[in-house]
Amino acid sequence: MQKSAYRFSQEDLAYLLSPQASKKDLEDLRQRAQDLTQSLYGKKIYIRGLIEFSNYCQEACRYCGIQATNPHIQRFRLSKETIYQQVSLGYGAGFRTFVLQGGEDPAYRDQDFCQIISWIKTTYPGVAVTLSLGLRTKASYRRLREAGADRYLLRHETANPQIFSQLHPPSQSLEARIRALEDLKDLGYQVGTGFLVGAPGTGPRDYMKDVLLIRQLDPAMIGMGPFIPHKDTPYKNHPPGSVDLTLRLLSILRLENPRALIPATTALNTAHPQGRLLGIQAGANVLMPNLSPPEAKKHYQLYDKKETQGLEDALGLKDLAKALETIGYKIDINRGDPIGGDYDL
Ligand code: 5AD
Repeated sequence: MQKSAYRFSQEDLAYLLSPQASKKDLEDLRQRAQDLTQSLYGKKIYIRGLIEFSNYCQEACRYCGIQATNPHIQRFRLSKETIYQQVSLGYGAGFRTFVLQGGEDPAYRDQDFCQIISWIKTTYPGVAVTLSLGLRTKASYRRLREAGADRYLLRHETANPQIFSQLHPPSQSLEARIRALEDLKDLGYQVGTGFLVGAPGTGPRDYMKDVLLIRQLDPAMIGMGPFIPHKDTPYKNHPPGSVDLTLRLLSILRLENPRALIPATTALNTAHPQGRLLGIQAGANVLMPNLSPPEAKKHYQLYDKKETQGLEDALGLKDLAKALETIGYKIDINRGDPIGGDYDL
């Protein structure tokens, strides 16, 4: 018999996200989340090779460093051949999931993505392809799915519709984002959503809404990291999101979504030198090292000082494995789908 996931009451959520939460209660929360993750996934971490293929973007999301209106960045677009090269390097290093992420770049059309997806899937049968291409039509999502894409990442960014509209251009709405997530699910993708902790205007009340929205969407993956300012955006002087609050939310979301694939994100690791390990100890079970070529790493700056080297470097997996060993974890090189079966809470 399958047990249902834990549901926090509104009161408990408010308390756990408040400054009043006691050290002991927060440590209990963290421990329960880490124990649950281990009981389902063991002390193993799935890895994804992240390829940032273009920083051209037609959208102007106000928090993002590669937004359309930023005149200060050097734009790049990888060729298909370069993408194939990076996939091959990653495959050789042990990656079995590739994430293609880019700005909303109209120069890359559906047919281009379809070609890339089929190349990857026929050259390396058994690998998973994850897309992170922003908002598209259902027809487009369908074409990409039919070409073989397995997963799609599209964060809702904030579950507060007013704040969503303040952060995004008028062409976007939270409603449309949620509809896209439902379309993706409908088409059989494993869907990932998530949000920014500390995005301008947001606070604990909004994060409670995020938890409830995720409850409703029941995603296969949940990606969450602190907001970090970018020097060329209107929020350049806004303080970064709290690492502590990000970790609390990670544990809450783990307990509510036992099977979810939850990364310790690059933003978390950029905001805190031990972010990766702290994330895992709070219930994360995925890492997404950077598999972009050097030119892309340099110019795909969603926020200031984004980490791409060292343990974030996909081709430095031995060092990553060593770091994970210090907390008793190992890299799992399987493609890492959500697991089924029973679990104990
Ligand atoms: N700080 C942290 N994360 C950011 N993202 C975009 N800009 C920032 C920023 N300034 C995140 C968004 C997006 C993902 C690809 O990167 O949540 O969904």
